[in-house]
Amino acid sequence: MSAAIEDVFKALAADRAARAQEKVADLFAADPGRFAAFSASFEDLLLDFSKCSLTEATLGLLVDLAKAAGVEEKRAAMFEGVHINVTEDRAVLHTALRDPGTTPLVVDGQDVRADVAAVLDAMSAFAEGIRSGALKGWTGKPITDVVNIGIGGSDLGPVMATIALSPYHDGPRAHYVSNVDGAHLYDTLKELDPASTLIIVASKTFTTQETMANAASARHWIVEALGEAAVANHFAAVSTALEKVAAFGIAPDRVFGFWDWVGGRYSVWSAIGLPVMIAVGEANFRRFLAGGHALDAHFSTAPLEKNLPVLLGLIGIWHRDVSGYATRAVIPYDQHLARLPAYLQQLDMESNGKHVTLDGQLVARDTGPVVWGEPGTNGQHAFFQLIHQGTSPIPVEFLIAAHGHSEEEEPGLKRQHAMLIANCLAQSEALMRGRTLEEAKAQLLAAGRDEATAERIAPHRVFTGSRPSVTIAYDKLDPYTLGRLIALYEHRVFVEGAIWNINSFDQWGVELGKELANTLLPAVESGVAPESLSSSAAGLLAHLVAK
Ligand code: F6P
Repeated sequence: MSAAIEDVFKALAADRAARAQEKVADLFAADPGRFAAFSASFEDLLLDFSKCSLTEATLGLLVDLAKAAGVEEKRAAMFEGVHINVTEDRAVLHTALRDPGTTPLVVDGQDVRADVAAVLDAMSAFAEGIRSGALKGWTGKPITDVVNIGIGGSDLGPVMATIALSPYHDGPRAHYVSNVDGAHLYDTLKELDPASTLIIVASKTFTTQETMANAASARHWIVEALGEAAVANHFAAVSTALEKVAAFGIAPDRVFGFWDWVGGRYSVWSAIGLPVMIAVGEANFRRFLAGGHALDAHFSTAPLEKNLPVLLGLIGIWHRDVSGYATRAVIPYDQHLARLPAYLQQLDMESNGKHVTLDGQLVARDTGPVVWGEPGTNGQHAFFQLIHQGTSPIPVEFLIAAHGHSEEEEPGLKRQHAMLIANCLAQSEALMRGRTLEEAKAQLLAAGRDEATAERIAPHRVFTGSRPSVTIAYDKLDPYTLGRLIALYEHRVFVEGAIWNINSFDQWGVELGKELANTLLPAVESGVAPESLSSSAAGLLAHLVAK
């Protein structure tokens, strides 16, 4: 890590130490303009970070950190198609998937813009054919159900987006099967009619054990019911490995490609988004892409101190490295974002769960935090107790829309949206304000408790306060806004990775377990443990096989 970066980190640590006893509530009391000073917006997207323990000086240091780490130069390199994924020698260009521009962008001798446009057009024609009923099943039935078989980036993005855009869903029903546990496929297919089901096999590599196993079983299900010839009508595939798809027997006009410069966890914008497009239609899918592109333009051009992904990344660094908080919770007060936390777990933890820098040295400080969450208000009745009164502060990211989708139709639902907003604001306010021992005791006395009881109970009713949170607010969760939100989080991961000087675009950490699983499968099937196994693995194997 460069001396300049180390100096800024030292200054940040000193800033935090000097303000260790400071209450964020006091910062609000001292500055009526705090909300305006510590929030930023892009179009109707608002990022409020005023409830974090930051001052103007802290913010200045964090921006210095971004500059010292070369975030702007690294950002330019990514958009230009430089091979910033150094361990795989690849460009990182998911931004090109949502860029409608026509000026050629030549990467490794190939104009990626032309390639992207061609695949998008082919997907659109196919999606329209399925939606309209022009493309039918083998027996002539229209397709009523689409089953996407994929895992990780070939699953989480499309699932998350399909649920997020359910108010726009007017195509066939969408189902997602990912787990190698056959129960996932079995439980999904048992409700469906093979004659009206389309199976999409989605795998960047077309080698992933889970996906290949589920695809083979789904193929068997179709062939058993309709015969071998029906495979042509009931399968499509999305992959970068076109020759492997051909070997599986899927017709070339139903294969939608993407490229090695699209990471799996960044691929929802590519043909991996096909099930989403079939569900919500081409126009809505293109609005989703437009939202991502708009956020890209903001990320590329807005000054660092007003740049939403840069700010979100810097706040992440402040919490992870300077404050030492090991996790962050993402709590969407938006039921349609129910799978956002799971999606962000892969995006963030697979990208920034790294222990060495780009040049292979051990990273000098902590990298990616544990990301977790559930929608509000459900989380309030489950784990919020720990967020409010546990011993380790957990930074929270709240997401909330000004409007829901159903409120125009139902007056009762409008009131429910008001309740949702009230709960969201109440939680961040309570986390920030807290309650002192004196306040707790006074409340108990005011409620008629005697002095001794008030003294005894009051400590249990103390909230330390100054628990950090940011709130991301938007008008309504439409396709354009979903695109902006996902791109916001992608670029936040980029900013943090750039500051840590790690490669956010490889995932060697998932390899070892995959290799061992492949070695162990014959052992599970034969019941004979190889000698290389630990006594734990051998003992467990013997126990399970004996059953
Ligand atoms: O297990 C990790 C991973 O390689 C992810 O990065 C990827 O999204 C997922 O597996 C699925 O890979 P594929 O799309 O090649 O089947």
